[in-house]
Amino acid sequence: MNNLECYNFQPKLSSFREEILQGLAQSQKAIAPKFFYDKRGSELFDQICELEEYYPTRTEIHLLKTYCGEIAELVGPQGLLIEYGSGSSYKVRILLDTLQHPVGYMPIDISFEHMLQASAELAQSYPNLDVMAVCADYTQPLQLPSYGKKPVGKKLIFFPGSTIGNLDPIEALHLLKQSASLLETGDGMLVGVDLKKDPAILHAAYNDALGVTAAFNLNLLLRINNDLEANFDLVNFRHWAFYNQDESRIEMHLLSLKDQTVMVEKTPFNFREGETIHTENSYKYSVEEFEAIANQAGFQAAKVWTDANHLFSIHYLRKR
Ligand SMILES: C[S@@+](CC[C@H](N)C(=O)[O-])C[C@H]1O[C@@H](n2cnc3c(N)ncnc32)[C@H](O)[C@@H]1O
Repeated sequence: MNNLECYNFQPKLSSFREEILQGLAQSQKAIAPKFFYDKRGSELFDQICELEEYYPTRTEIHLLKTYCGEIAELVGPQGLLIEYGSGSSYKVRILLDTLQHPVGYMPIDISFEHMLQASAELAQSYPNLDVMAVCADYTQPLQLPSYGKKPVGKKLIFFPGSTIGNLDPIEALHLLKQSASLLETGDGMLVGVDLKKDPAILHAAYNDALGVTAAFNLNLLLRINNDLEANFDLVNFRHWAFYNQDESRIEMHLLSLKDQTVMVEKTPFNFREGETIHTENSYKYSVEEFEAIANQAGFQAAKVWTDANHLFSIHYLRKR
């Protein structure tokens, strides 16, 4: 395929090891959610997106399909799309089908194999689009490949899925500032942000009846066993997710079902019964709260779309 290029800046195994050992040594054991996404983790996330209880995916897709014409107007012709946490690159197809002659697409994702497959499929579906797949951790300083094959109109950074909610508000501000630094005045950023709502809806979304989210959470331990020398016994841990009202976030944890010692490489880690590893936060925002952060990061909050039930929001931010 001559419209696909790949750039592999995937974090090294040594940095994975370092972060896991460091996270498990804390008094509140914690592992960053970016480590969920090995090949199996990405597949499980795709299954989560199909779940009845998981309203964010279908609501965001509905918003994109409803308002893609307005988005295309804002972006204009010959746009260059950059997507953070592109996963299966499904949602971007709605934009690519509507934008006027988009020239390039740069998916950035930490999950190498999954992204490569998604990018190859996309490059095949859109033969006139230059696809530059970048495997990297977007929370680290990014040096994006330069693009000069065709004249570019505006750049658009697309960050769907409310993945920005996995960062705390200070980290989200930092990421938005870093994004702004990749753009010129007048370029845009399109961000999907989950809204504050009845905690019962949130609770159901992260505790699905089929147990897919539980499998996704527990897969982290399997990944550590596989990629490092570790002996987590998955039957001794349980998925635990709840809404922390004070912090406006869903928290996901892995809860130890008994007193136990787990070896990771040559380091023993003791767990008391009921002790947890904190594996994910998913912050929920009001429209105004998110706009205030975007504004602080150097963007003008130009447009926001929400659904009738006020479950999810998509923000179009214009670089000032
Ligand atoms: C919640 S999923 C969203 C996937 C897709 N964008 C969607 O909206 O359905 C998060 C995606 O971001 C990627 N990801 C998570 N943390 C990342 C990081 N720090 N750097 C790069 N990619 C990351 C994951 O591999 C995964 O594909």
